Amino acid sequence: MKNAKKAASPKKTAGARRNGAGLPIDIGISEEQRGRIAAGLSRLLADSYTLYLMTHNFHWNVTGPMFNTLHVMFMQQYTEQWNALDMIAERIRALGFPAPGTYREFVKLASIKEVEGQPKALDMVRHLVAAQEATARTARSLFDLVGDANDQPTADLLTQRLDVHEKTAWMLRSLLEE
Ligand SMILES: [Fe+2]
Repeated sequence: MKNAKKAASPKKTAGARRNGAGLPIDIGISEEQRGRIAAGLSRLLADSYTLYLMTHNFHWNVTGPMFNTLHVMFMQQYTEQWNALDMIAERIRALGFPAPGTYREFVKLASIKEVEGQPKALDMVRHLVAAQEATARTARSLFDLVGDANDQPTADLLTQRLDVHEKTAWMLRSLLEE
């Protein structure tokens, strides 16, 4: 009993902390699986950030007869998207890995290409449909991995994000119909 107490002494913990390792994570998902999920979520964060910035850019630069509708709609969309970034990044942290947070990393990780210049209003809508759908595909591609690891919080987050991206893509797509 005495020896067992010694094995878990604060001294050992303090040593691990000094080495920068901190306390090990023991949530029932292996480090290898947590790493693969965090890498997938980093790609989702990069697509989500790129989509956020594209939507805010179009909010600033939209012109034409649909100005007010699109200006306000884009604001609602980028605000929702901005809040989602934090949820995704903090899930990566809870899994024990650093979240990417620079434009350089986001460009490298994203599947969405940035749009140069100022497209016409309906071309903005087409770009946003494509970016919403690309972000949905990235989220959906992680489900097998997350299911295998029994990672319900990440599955819940992905489900919420898919719901938003698919619904937003539908609303944007509807603007293009007669
Ligand atoms: Fe504004």
